[in-house]
Amino acid sequence: MAEKKPLTDSQRRIVLKALGIAPLASAGLFMNLSLSGCSDSTSPSDDSIELKVADEPGLGNIDGFVRRTYGSNNNGNPIIILKTDIDTYRCISVGCPKNCEKKSPAPALGNPSNKEIICETCPMKAKYSVDEKSFGNVLESGPSQTLREFPVTYNASTGTIKIDF
Ligand code: FES
Repeated sequence: MAEKKPLTDSQRRIVLKALGIAPLASAGLFMNLSLSGCSDSTSPSDDSIELKVADEPGLGNIDGFVRRTYGSNNNGNPIIILKTDIDTYRCISVGCPKNCEKKSPAPALGNPSNKEIICETCPMKAKYSVDEKSFGNVLESGPSQTLREFPVTYNASTGTIKIDF
């Protein structure tokens, strides 16, 4: 009888995808969920990315932003990185936390404007603050969770930001 070998990451992803839980297809998170029972963690990946602020014109000024997809991080959905103050950066998923329309793809936030961001693709048009003082709070459209943030670390000496997913 053949010896059982542990699954590789890509094999594990295929199995998780077949089970309908592909967004959780990171070995670390899978282990985490296994150990912590019914966690409702929203972290889709245990990866991180780094980028140089000087290479991103969108992050040159306060209230500037970059909207981009980074591989399979955030389930392959875009993130929005914002410069909210001097040497202060935030990162959110474009997925609207209100999630009132249960359809695929999930309703998405538009681009930030006037320190606010609106769920553009849902008729409820939830509005959230992206002002550093009240970041993520719901401004309109009834109760909802705050924006879904990913931790950002800024290294002033290298001018880089690191985003953990
Ligand atoms: S899903 Fe965003 S307001 Fe409905």
